[in-house]
This record gives sequence, C-alpha cells and structure tokens, in this order.
Amino acid sequence: MSYEKEALRRIEEYKTKEKPLILAIESSCDETAAAVIEGGREVLSNSVFTQIPIHKQYGGVVPEIASRSHVEKISGVVNDALESAGKALQDMDAIAVTCGPGLVGALLVGLNYAKGLAFSASLPLIGVDHIAGHIAANYITHKALEPPFVCLVASGGHSHIVKVMDYDRFEVLGKTRDDAAGEAFDKVARALGLGYPGGPLLESLAKDGNPNAYTFKSALNDNNSFEFSFSGIKTAVVNVMHNAKQKGEEIVLADIAASFQHSVVNTLTKKSVHAAKECGMENLALAGGVSANTVLRNSLEKAALKEGLNFYCPSMKYCTDNAAMIGCAGHYSLMKGHFSPLSLNADPSLGF
Ligand code: KG4
Ligand code: ZN
Repeated sequence: MSYEKEALRRIEEYKTKEKPLILAIESSCDETAAAVIEGGREVLSNSVFTQIPIHKQYGGVVPEIASRSHVEKISGVVNDALESAGKALQDMDAIAVTCGPGLVGALLVGLNYAKGLAFSASLPLIGVDHIAGHIAANYITHKALEPPFVCLVASGGHSHIVKVMDYDRFEVLGKTRDDAAGEAFDKVARALGLGYPGGPLLESLAKDGNPNAYTFKSALNDNNSFEFSFSGIKTAVVNVMHNAKQKGEEIVLADIAASFQHSVVNTLTKKSVHAAKECGMENLALAGGVSANTVLRNSLEKAALKEGLNFYCPSMKYCTDNAAMIGCAGHYSLMKGHFSPLSLNADPSLGF
C-alpha cells in the first residue's frame, strides 16, 4: 500500500482510538525537543536538549549554530523520548512536528527528521504551528480546559492576544507593532549586562528591586487597542542608564529591572483582561516563554479573578519551548481529520 493510503487509513484509526499515541518533535529555535503524548493530553515523556549554554557566549541565538546543534542532537532526543515513554516507533499512531514560525534552518531539521520517521513507519504526519503549540500547553496542565477562551501569547518572537475559538481556530485580536515581550526582556537584560536568555535573569534581578523606582511606560499602554509596543520602553531603559553614566550617578540595576518588568507586566495584564471581557469570555489563559515569569502569572491571575474570569497558565516545564505542547496541538488537528503531506515545508513566518 502506498504511504498516502496507509497514512489516511491510520488517521481514521487514530480518531477511533481511546488513547492514540503521538511522537512530537520541536526544533524551531534553540531547543531540540521530542515527546510522546497519549490521548492528546497525557505526557508520557518530554525530552528537551537546550542550546542555551552554546548561544550564551554570543549573547543570543546564532541561527547557523542552532541548526547544526539540532542535527547533532535530534536523533538522541527522539530516542530518549521514546525510551522514557517505554515505547517504540512502531507503537506510535502519528507524528507531529513544528513547521513554523521559527528559524528556517532549525525548523527544517525537525521537519525532515519527522518526515523520515513518518515515511519509514507509514505514520500520518501533522505539521503544527508553534504558537498553537504554546496555547495547547494549557490543555496539558488543565485537563478540563476547552475553547473558547482568550489567550495572551508572550514569547521571544510573539506578543499576541488571541481569541481561541476552537482547538484549530484562532483570531488574533492584537499583537506587538515592534518588539515581542520576551524580546524586550532579552534586550533590556543585555543592556543591564545580564546574560542570555535575559528573561529569567532579569526576573531574578528584579526580585531585589523597587518596581516604582522608575516610571517606564509601554507606548500603547493607555489606549484601548489590543496592540502592544515594547521597543520604546527598551530605549527608555537604555537612555536612563546612559544618562546616569554620563552624569556619574549611581544606578541600582535591580530597580531598573523591577521597574521595567512592572511596566511590561502591567500592560500585558491590562490588555489581556480587557480583551477577555470584551469578547465575553469566562476564561483567560497565558502561554509562551514569558509565561514562566512569576510576576506576570501572579498579576494576570489577580486581575482575572477581580474581573470574575478563570485564569489558566501552563506548569513551568511547558511554558518554554517543548514538544509535548506540539503533540497536544497535533492531536486536536488529527482528530479533525487534518494531516500534512510529505511535501510539507517549513514556514519561518507562519502565523494564524
Ligand atoms: O517560547 P519561548 O521559549 O521561545 C520562543 O518561541 O520565542 O520563549 C523564549 C522567551 C525569551 O525571550 C525568554 O527571555 C523569555 O521567553 N522568558 C522569560 C522568562 N523565561 C523565559 N521572560 C521573562 N521572565 C521569565 N521568567
Ligand atoms: Zn516558543
């Protein structure tokens, strides 16, 4: 039987199984990740090789080095995910893989590996949007959560407020006009002399700082749109540091970090809660790498509760890039009968 026919047969079989198994692969940026997911939301294994120590010395992700590292690690990471789950490739019912957005060279490594496995084991392939994956991380942590809800997606490349109408239907209500929230954290962290990735290091430094020491404002904070702009606030931080240096004034870096974080969290919180209320939603969720920020999680939770909204965020290990979330999103696509041909290509600027 041809690959296509067998894959189609197995998709139909997938939909009828009580606990179908997915092998998921993610390689969009600087994490090589693989996971085995059962029935959409049960994580049997979640293997992640992070390249952070490799890119740290350059102060950010070097795309070419990222691709090469993915090539070196992908086979070991996938085998580890299968072994940790106590499964073999032949036990799988489908393969899910991130096909965009991300670094094209990095995406291609995971995608081609997934295609090879799918073809060799006659398994259906499903390409997954990385952002849909981040949103799906919430389903893994909150087993009863179902669409519709509003989700703030804040990562290194995205600051989107998304109306999640169904598992595979999204409407972007607003996004950043320039820098993403995580990108702003990373850039400010660099200006403060912290390492890479800046987000967690800045959060850690901010713990000892006064969040009201400086008044930094995100540009679109005061209007009612769901658009963000974080490029100006980054420049404001750099200017404060520059001026202080010129005047020979001493600055407390922790105060700068805390004041910057306070402002960004404030804007993200205000706009997301407003969006959920305006859409008449009962549920507000958070996703993306910046969802690992405890100040943001707490702020959103408090504001949501005050407005009578239920608040959801993924447990810490599913906040930053991982393959479990890709498997979960892939499951819901397959359940609707969607699948990808082996000609699927990586799309670095994929978006909904
Ligand atoms: O989702 P992710 O792992 O990769 C992308 O899809 O971009 O997000 C990475 C981003 C980085 O910008 C990183 O600095 C940020 O998430 N991040 C944080 C925290 N942990 C990760 N930002 C603020 N506070 C954190 N604790
Ligand atoms: Zn991500």
